[in-house]
Amino acid sequence: LTLDIASSGGNQSSPLLYGLLYEDIYHSGDGGLYGEMLRNRAFQGSSSGGAASLARNTDYWHPIGSVSLAIDTSAPVVSSTLPYHMRMDVPAGTTGTVGFYNEGFWGFDVDATKRYIASLWMRGNYSGTVDCYFSSNTTGQMLGSSSMSIDQTSLAGWVQSYSATFQPSKTAPDGNNTFYFTFDGSKLAGQSVYFNILSLFKQTFDNRLNGVREDLADALVNMNHKYIRLPGGNNMEGNNSPYEWKWNETIGPLTDRPGRPGTWGDINTDGFGLLEMMQMAQDLGLEVILGIWTGLYLDGEVVSEANLQPYVDSVMDELEFLLGDKSTTYGAKRAALGFPSPFTINWIEIGNEDYLNGGTSSYYSYRYMAFYDALHAVYPSINLVSTINPNPVTSNGSSLDLHIYGNENYFVSLFNTFDQASREYPVFVNEYAATNTGSNNAGQVGAQTMGTSCAEAIFLLGCERNSDVIVGSAYGALIKNYNEAPDTVAVIKHTANEVLYSISYYVQKLFADNMGKRTLPVNATDGELGPVYWSATANSSSTILKLVNYNGKTGSSNAVQVNVKGSSKNIATLITLTAPGSTSVNSLPSLGGESTTITTTSLSGSAGSFSVSFGNSYEIAIL
Ligand code: AHR
Repeated sequence: LTLDIASSGGNQSSPLLYGLLYEDIYHSGDGGLYGEMLRNRAFQGSSSGGAASLARNTDYWHPIGSVSLAIDTSAPVVSSTLPYHMRMDVPAGTTGTVGFYNEGFWGFDVDATKRYIASLWMRGNYSGTVDCYFSSNTTGQMLGSSSMSIDQTSLAGWVQSYSATFQPSKTAPDGNNTFYFTFDGSKLAGQSVYFNILSLFKQTFDNRLNGVREDLADALVNMNHKYIRLPGGNNMEGNNSPYEWKWNETIGPLTDRPGRPGTWGDINTDGFGLLEMMQMAQDLGLEVILGIWTGLYLDGEVVSEANLQPYVDSVMDELEFLLGDKSTTYGAKRAALGFPSPFTINWIEIGNEDYLNGGTSSYYSYRYMAFYDALHAVYPSINLVSTINPNPVTSNGSSLDLHIYGNENYFVSLFNTFDQASREYPVFVNEYAATNTGSNNAGQVGAQTMGTSCAEAIFLLGCERNSDVIVGSAYGALIKNYNEAPDTVAVIKHTANEVLYSISYYVQKLFADNMGKRTLPVNATDGELGPVYWSATANSSSTILKLVNYNGKTGSSNAVQVNVKGSSKNIATLITLTAPGSTSVNSLPSLGGESTTITTTSLSGSAGSFSVSFGNSYEIAIL
């Protein structure tokens, strides 16, 4: 195969081509990005059995000593928003240590190099210390502790107490740890005391209060992507009325956030609320595509045209909250919450997958336009994104979001799919993933193989070649907990103390790291498309060629002769991503680590001509 790369003649590439989708799915928010380490901290509902509900329980909390723990609603409550709390009954005659411990989200990361802080709200008669500490289930050792002093003599009011900041004395050998709160039992004998919003944070990314988990944020930074779509996804829609994601219930003090049954089987605490997400986007240098709910629940219920206006008004309030200055009602509210400067929003996505469950006709007949008209009138420069093709509006910067999931073969076939696409309006693929190997259409595979990742890479080549119309792409899902069923695909998976970087992660990172500002035409001779696929882009001083060898030969029998027109370079940098075979997968560091190898070498050539040969039948090369 010979590829002649022209020196001009392509299109401008989209600066946003590589992006992220964030929604709270399988603990990507609570127990994931959100830095809170205690599970069921405010008794907001149940995640038992894979279905979120408002049934309250003391799941993930366990008594120490002779005490018993129960859900309680006696007055006064910590706030009318959080009317359920945990009661600890201490039998008369108790001596010694009593209290409770929390399981965390599948354990805790105990890292002696990091700072931690615990806190709780308590109502009860207790003057003494509360010892807070980690314990390892693997070694039985206590791994570091702190304490807080409490001096309460009245049952009438709630008091919030913080531990001293502490660093564990030892790093735990694994994530199998618990976190304890213990009291002097003799001082509580015969009494009941009450708790709510118990909390434990490890130091967060950029040291933000109520911020995000450092290692996961670092993983996102390293992807070098340009935008983030939030807050979803199906999770924004809600399974049924009235559980759509409501921006105004995710802001302000944690005592004012009720939480909600999420779509993906878990209660959302909404501690990771609108401002925390915007802060994260800002800290990560990401443009935001703001998702807004547009009247369709996942069970198919649709808000009628007559009843839609309050939801439109709420979105307009949300926009004023994010973009308004301090002279506006909601801008002032944002400033009062510690964010004096308005955020920037250039993109708003009107809904999510509104073709689902019978939503199409109402989307076209009134839902889309109700939001479009209101938003466009006040914010004419914001680009509005439809979730159904064709786009109901094709002017004023309107664009479309396509979601593409399918098997590996389908993704390979998408290489050309955008070549003939209408250029009438820009298109995002704000969700994609090859969810099955080969031609297998059954269920989603849990881990991206080298085969599925190369297929996704071929699809991305097609996006890159057409990035005059394909303005962005984002993988679904971005993050999920490794331990939680079902084991579906995600760019990264986490446990309490580890991160699994999928092969897709490395493909996306390499593609985003090596992206030109414009495309270049490539003329192929002495061979055809497949098993090798390609795309060329350029910056002012460099030409970048991406090659995917998909089930091809190795060595000189599948060498690609590359000629860069107008180049006099004799040396090129060659980056390769390889894995032993199409079914290779990456795993957690503690379970064998990664099967992928990325190498960067210098390749000698002559006056812009280079020969690239592949060492593996599935390989990605960037020249
Ligand atoms: O990424 C997972 C889900 O897939 C998203 O929530 C939804 O929009 C899509 O169906």
